Amino acid sequence: MVGYPKIRPRRLRQNKIVRDSVAETRLTPEDLVLPVFVKEGISSPEEISSMPDVLRYPVNDSLIKFIDDNYNKGVKKVILFGVPSSKDNLASSAFQKDGVIQKSLKLLRETFGNKVLLIADECTDEYTSHGHCGIVNYRGDQYYIDNDESLKVHAKIALSQAEAGADVVAPSSMMDGVVGAIRDELDQNGYTDTLIMAYSVKYASVFYSPFREAASSAPAFGDRKTYQMDPRNANEALKEVQLDVEEGADILMVKPAHTYLDIIRLVKSNFPQYPLAAYHVSGEYSMIKAAVNNGWINEKAAVLEITHAIKRAGANLILTYYAPMLVQWMTEGV
Ligand code: PBG
Repeated sequence: MVGYPKIRPRRLRQNKIVRDSVAETRLTPEDLVLPVFVKEGISSPEEISSMPDVLRYPVNDSLIKFIDDNYNKGVKKVILFGVPSSKDNLASSAFQKDGVIQKSLKLLRETFGNKVLLIADECTDEYTSHGHCGIVNYRGDQYYIDNDESLKVHAKIALSQAEAGADVVAPSSMMDGVVGAIRDELDQNGYTDTLIMAYSVKYASVFYSPFREAASSAPAFGDRKTYQMDPRNANEALKEVQLDVEEGADILMVKPAHTYLDIIRLVKSNFPQYPLAAYHVSGEYSMIKAAVNNGWINEKAAVLEITHAIKRAGANLILTYYAPMLVQWMTEGV
């Protein structure tokens, strides 16, 4: 007699209702954070050629409408990226009271109260003429990113974001000690309830290129390899996370997400007591869009598969440009 199997994994896959009943990973709107570009000096939303279907918004009714539409679909968390009209070497437009992020935070707080969680990306690259995530100094004619000078600026930016109404500040510079510097500054000024979502494990990735067009934030010289992590490293992620935890990070992040599922799993396994975010970045988004626009891949199926993979790997929060579509697709189901 043929040895027919007694145990048949396929029984649990026989139809949609059975599959849905035993699915190990479920996406909900609460998982999602919507990245939003706000730009000074424009009056209506602007297209971004490297990121089809993503827009830059002016700080006006069109921004409110976009966030309101998403809120009504269930996306209640946004992370704001500023595109200022002036840049200098010290990122001054990042901590002005009437800076583009500060104005956006005030407007959104006034409009939405506490219904929407307002997260501010905290960095200097969009606000500096050199486009680096810190302060540039020189030894002779050799430039370097001055870590400890940068901390003062990052602390100042974070405080001004908290003052303007940010619920969460999200340092993305990868400067050593930035989380601690920000925590101290916030606490000394009474912002003990302002959360820090740390870009703890941020790789020096080519997949940020479309974002750099969107935010005009490409470095004018050099690259980010002296501060962002080497893609060849995994164990080092635990060192970065450990430091951020000691410095007071509330939420950790791994970035990019799709290319670094192993790192998401590694961090979650080693630090299960901390909420973990993962950022499905611009290049990961635009690659899907390119394939979709060529008719090579089904967009909904691709995005649901990838986003489930990010959650399955261990992410509790997912930053994704697909959030507006995902909330719709997740109700329709896989
Ligand atoms: C830095 C920052 C970047 C991204 C988020 N925060 C750009 C960079 O490090 O070059 C990239 C996000 C994306 O690619 O979607 N402010």
